Amino acid sequence: MSDQAKKYYITTPIYYPSGKWHLGTCYTTVVCDALARFKRKEGYDVFYLTGTDEHGQKIEKTAESKGMQPKEFLDKQVGALIDLWKLLGISYDKFIRTTDEYHKKAVAKIFQKLYDQGDIYKSSYEGWYCTPCESFWTKSQLVDGKCPDCGREVELTKEESYFFRLSKYQDRLIDLIENHPDFLLPKSRQNEMLNNFLRPGLQDLCVSRSSFRWGIPVPFDPQHVVYVWIDALTNYITALGYGSEDDSLFRKYWPADLHMMGKEIVRFHSIIWPALLMALDIPLPKEVYGHGWLLLGSEKISKSKGNIVDPFELSARYSVDAVRYFLLREVPFGSDGMYTNRAFLTRINTDLCNSLGNLLSRTTAMVNQYFGGVLPAPDVKEAVDDELTSMIDGLFDRVRDNMDKLLVPEALHEIWTVIGRANKYIDETTPWILAKDPAKQGRLATVLYNLSEALRVSAVLLSAFLIETPAKILSCFGLEAPARFGDGVRYGKLKGGETVLKAGKLYERIDIEKELIAMEKRAEELAAESAKKEEQVPETPKKATIQYDDFAKLDLKVGKIVAAEPVKRSEKLLKFTVEIGAERRTIVSGIAKYYKPEETIGKLVSVVTNLAPVKLCGVVSEGMLMCASDADGKVVLLAPEAEVASGSEIS
Ligand code: MSP
Repeated sequence: MSDQAKKYYITTPIYYPSGKWHLGTCYTTVVCDALARFKRKEGYDVFYLTGTDEHGQKIEKTAESKGMQPKEFLDKQVGALIDLWKLLGISYDKFIRTTDEYHKKAVAKIFQKLYDQGDIYKSSYEGWYCTPCESFWTKSQLVDGKCPDCGREVELTKEESYFFRLSKYQDRLIDLIENHPDFLLPKSRQNEMLNNFLRPGLQDLCVSRSSFRWGIPVPFDPQHVVYVWIDALTNYITALGYGSEDDSLFRKYWPADLHMMGKEIVRFHSIIWPALLMALDIPLPKEVYGHGWLLLGSEKISKSKGNIVDPFELSARYSVDAVRYFLLREVPFGSDGMYTNRAFLTRINTDLCNSLGNLLSRTTAMVNQYFGGVLPAPDVKEAVDDELTSMIDGLFDRVRDNMDKLLVPEALHEIWTVIGRANKYIDETTPWILAKDPAKQGRLATVLYNLSEALRVSAVLLSAFLIETPAKILSCFGLEAPARFGDGVRYGKLKGGETVLKAGKLYERIDIEKELIAMEKRAEELAAESAKKEEQVPETPKKATIQYDDFAKLDLKVGKIVAAEPVKRSEKLLKFTVEIGAERRTIVSGIAKYYKPEETIGKLVSVVTNLAPVKLCGVVSEGMLMCASDADGKVVLLAPEAEVASGSEIS
């Protein structure tokens, strides 16, 4: 590598901070961390970006259900995610939050630019909306009238929206996927994108919403907020300062060398993202990689499925490295992998405890027993050494070849092949027999030297994958994990004469059957704890205390309904004409399920009159009718207890 280190910009997707963090959450980040660490040690100037995707109706609603402001809720969730990344040793260079001011400003600029140049235009959008998934579906996509992703109720929604001219970029996108085979990997995802989306024809993309507020306002039409993909995808450039006064990082690191993500969001990264970049006239990322999922049984581990495996628990009980090793080793890269308690424990026992742990304890014990804890220089060689020493010497190249192809489990497999070969070498060379013969001391020295080198080189390489384990191994030889691999990954760096400490147990051997029972018991305890917590949640969540001044900002008045009718194409909404003193207003309310329009006429109601107008299914609503709802879902209009004039103040 030249003095001017080559740059490597790697990103994870930004995470939705709406629920509990689970082992599946950690997958993309741990894989990217190993890649970033490896590249740094190779001498690259690495920029590793991760962060959180914080806007949208789901966040707004989840925060509300907990009686919190969105930002307050988000700060708590993001804090827990950052704790998780600290625990797992994630070496990111920047953590972006889409609620960061610089990001919001840059997104507004990008939106404005795309609008000014005609790539964004206003039109209207109708679809079936699933709030938890924040997705619009066409009627034919629904399954039994419900969301095809999560099976929950959807709402027919029509709104005026802004659209991005995605269709304009169709031919360039087809050319990109067809003629740049390294842009989207693994290859199977190319066919998926071409056959399922690009060749059938792209439609323009709805990029704003006016049905909720928690988002970045559209700069020239603040009734609308920027909808998820322009807000989220642009994080990859705004994090580098694109659209801000200082864009030096953008100039240095863009284009991204690798956008890594789970397969379910490949479409957004390989179609929408390049189209946006084409529109902005920005070079495209070099590679988009869609990895498989970590499954529990046949299902994706996910907070919405409720089948979470807790990385905090696993790390505390079995070590952070055990968790990292499992994630990096067990999931065939690009395909789905499965988590089971047994598979996890077996990896610890077989690979970490038996293969690696035994090699370390046997080697360091023998150097201590036979050479007083001082590593001998190699002396008498035999043919059997060659296979091991050449395997050690070539290990870095094989690991690097795999890492370059993003074959992380295969890279680890190469390291364990050397570890396995070294263990076999002990059985072949029988050092305990050599030790009994004074004439074989030179031979014994070579054997222990080679074993030490196998451990050292393996540990140096492993320092890109694991945190504590390589450091423990290297410390036995008085070494630290190097910042750069350099020639430390080649056979022969130890000179002889180094003090070798007898290693303690690297990993405790686990009685798997007993442990499985303990894990089940712990899972039951955790389930009981969380059920108890849920029971304790008050049915009406407490909202934050407000000052009188906050309350006084509400303009509450008595109104009288003088006309009512259903809102076209909505099953939920009624449109009312409400008399408030001398004034008449249109107010839309979602109570069609509970009231027939005609039975509301003449009723006195309580009205929030100074709520900002909002367009609901094409009707501008100028206020809100106050309602009470009970735990059984019954909803009634709030009315004064006795007849009073419309327009009366409520205080
Ligand atoms: N916010 C979007 C991404 C926007 S990027 C411009 C999002 N967030 S997410 O929190 O749902 O997912 C973040 C990452 O975690 C994705 O790469 C996703 O695939 C990954 N995983 C979440 N659960 C997973 C598994 N069970 N297994 C492997 N990865 C999984 O999508």
